[in-house]
Formats: sequence, structure tokens, C-alpha cells
Amino acid sequence: DSRISIQTIRSLEFILIRLPTTRFRTVTGMQRLQYRFIINCGHRKAIAPSTKGTKRRMADKQSIIVGVPKHVAVIMDGNGRWAKRHGKKTTEGHEAGAEGVREVLKGCRELGIPCLSLYAFSTENWSRPEEEVNPLFQLMSKYIRREIDEIKKHGIRVLFMGEWRELPPTAVQDLEYCLEQTKDNRDMTVVVGLNYGGRQEILRCAKLMAEKARKGELLPEEITESLFNQYLYVSEFP
Ligand code: IPE
Ligand code: MG
Repeated sequence: DSRISIQTIRSLEFILIRLPTTRFRTVTGMQRLQYRFIINCGHRKAIAPSTKGTKRRMADKQSIIVGVPKHVAVIMDGNGRWAKRHGKKTTEGHEAGAEGVREVLKGCRELGIPCLSLYAFSTENWSRPEEEVNPLFQLMSKYIRREIDEIKKHGIRVLFMGEWRELPPTAVQDLEYCLEQTKDNRDMTVVVGLNYGGRQEILRCAKLMAEKARKGELLPEEITESLFNQYLYVSEFP
């Protein structure tokens, strides 16, 4: 129905999405994100307009409404390759990657996605040279200080997963500040993986449960999927 408004769509938990078209000469991060939803959600629901005039007629043909995922996770990668391709330093690649986060976050907000996970720094990343790792933490601190007001303005809660408290003390201080400043926000959640490893997380769950079992507070038969879930770094999201 062409009278459908974006508010109606939001209230129905459906969202306007543009189909990929050759008319887009450059594909922005946001558009790429949208295409992914089309692929992931798969179903076409209805056609709705998004813009006025000619653009609107174009949009009529190109837009579809699909369900919005409850959780989107991004593995941050390719900063080095991007830097190489543009004849820049690796650290500049990481800076560009951090800017990309802004765009992805904006896209998720506009689409009404409640949770975004960013895998930013893995336990394996420690094997990188110090000259690359240290500026990464500085970049993170800079990003937090620069964006904190914006993050708060949009009601975004920031959480961390991984052994992030083992990062350099100044970085930990800034992360704690960010955590504290956003703890009551509920419009959207961003979970950042820092010093995070998937296997390490499973190992940690196993150790925590073993510790409980040793104290006689947990029986093997009590270990279910939902109990396991409680031992993850962040357990409340699908
Ligand atoms: C991701 O980009 C950076 C981190 C998460 C630390 P990479 O640095 O892995 O980029 P490529 O893979 O070398 O292109
Ligand atoms: Mg990589």
C-alpha cells in the first residue's frame, strides 16, 4: 500500500528496504547492510515508497519491506587491506574502520535493529606488532571520548564481551567510563568484543561451572542450554 508510512512500518516491526540496483554507482556501508537483510530475511512483504517525486516513483519499484533482525553482528576485518589499497599506513586503515562503525551504527538505528555486536579485538590479535596494537587502543579511547555524547543522545547502551579488563589501564578506564555512562540506556545495545575469543568464552563458561560444581552448587544434569547461556559474557540477546 503506497499510503503506508514509515511510522506504521516501524510499529509493525517491518522496515523499508531498497533492492540493489545498477543505478547505485557506489554502494555505501548502509546499502550493503540493507542488501544483507534482503538476503537474510528472504521474504518480500509489500511495496512502499520512501522518497518524493521522481525519486519516489523509482523507490516504489525498488523498495520492499522485510522483517528486521533482532541482532546483527559484524566481524571487523579488512582494515589492513583497505590501507594497502589506498597506499596508507595500517593504523590509518584502523581509523577508517572506526569511521565505518559510525555508519553501521547509524544504519542499524534507522532500521530499528535493537542489538549490534562488533567483534573489534580478538585474543588472536595480540600476536600483531606492538606498533599496531597500541594505537588501536588509543583509537578506541579517542572514539569513546568523541562519540559518548552522541551515543547517550541516541539511548545506546554499550556493553563489552571478552577479557577487556586485561587491556592497558588507560583503555580500561575509558571502557569503564563508557559502560557507566550508558548503563541505563535501552533504545539500542551495542556489544563490543574486546580481547574476545569464541573458544576462550566457552572455556570460561566451563571453568565457572566447574567451580560451582566443586562447591557442590551445581550438578552435571542441571547443565542445560539455558544454564550455559547464563555463563556467557552477555546473555540476554538472541
Ligand atoms: C581488522 O582488520 C582489524 C582488527 C580487528 C584488529 P585487519 O587488520 O584484520 O585487516 P586485514 O585482514 O589485514 O585486511
Ligand atoms: Mg584480518
